Amino acid sequence: MIILFLGPPGAGKGTQCKFLADRYRLRHLSSGDILRRERQEGTDLGKQAQSYMDSGRLVPDDLIVAMMRQEIGAAADGETSGVILDGFPRTLQQAQALDQALRDDDKQVDVVLNLDVDDDKLERRITGRRSCPRCGTAYHVDFNPPRRANVCDRDGAALAQRSDDTAAVVRKRIETYHQQTAPLIDYYGHQGTLQTVDGNVPIEQVTRSLSAILDGCNR
Ligand code: AP5
Repeated sequence: MIILFLGPPGAGKGTQCKFLADRYRLRHLSSGDILRRERQEGTDLGKQAQSYMDSGRLVPDDLIVAMMRQEIGAAADGETSGVILDGFPRTLQQAQALDQALRDDDKQVDVVLNLDVDDDKLERRITGRRSCPRCGTAYHVDFNPPRRANVCDRDGAALAQRSDDTAAVVRKRIETYHQQTAPLIDYYGHQGTLQTVDGNVPIEQVTRSLSAILDGCNR
C-alpha cells in the first residue's frame, strides 16, 4: 500500500504519520527528515540542500526525486504492509516522476491524505514545536507538551528546535506551499485518490478521522 500525506508546513503530517506507521505497519518516509539526516552526516546532498531549507524554499526536484526513488526502493520489504510518504511529492514534477516510477514497478498511489489547516494556525504550531533529535517525535510547548519539560517521553533525550522553525522562515515556507505544493490537491483530486481531513482540530480527533479512512481502505 502506498499512502501520500499532503498538507502545509506545521499541519501535523509528521505527528500523524508516526502514529499511522505504528498502527498500520507502514514504513514512514519523511523527505524533510531524510534531508536533515543528510545534513547531519555532511553528505554532498545535505550540503546542497542546506541553503534551500534554511530559507524556506524547496530543494530542486532532480535531487529530491533521485533521493526518494532510492528510499522507496530500499523500503520495499516483507516486514511492512507499505509506505507512507510525508512531504513528498511537493511539486507537480515530483508527483509525475513518482507516478512514472511506480508505474515502472506495476504499482500506484493508493490513497492521498490531505491535511487541511488554516494558515493562521500554522505559525504558532511551528514556532512552538520541539522535536526529539534521537527518535524524531514532535511535541508542542502548549498543544502537546512532553511529560517533563524539554525531555522526550520515549527515550529521555533533550528536545531541540529546528533551525527553519523561525517566524520569518515559516512565512516563506507557507508561501512556498501555496505556490508549489497546493496544486497537487487538484492533481490527486482528478486521479480520484484524494481524501481531505480537517487538521484544525485536536491531534486525537485528526488521528480518528485518518484512521477511519485507512480502516476503510483495508476492508
Ligand atoms: P519538512 O520537514 O517536510 O517540513 P514541512 O513540510 O514544512 O512540515 P513540518 O515538518 O514543519 O510540519 P508537519 O506537518 O510535519 O507538522 P508536525 O506534525 O511536526 O521540510 C523541511 C524543508 O525540507 C522544506 O522547507 C524544503 O526545503 C525541504 N524539503 C522537504 N521535502 C521536500 C521536497 N519533497 N521537495 C523539495 N524540498 C523538500 O506538527 C507541527 C507542530 O504542531 C508540532 O509541535 C505538533 O505537536 C503540533 N501539532 C500537530 N498537530 C496538531 C493539532 N492537530 N493541533 C495542535 N497542534 C498540533
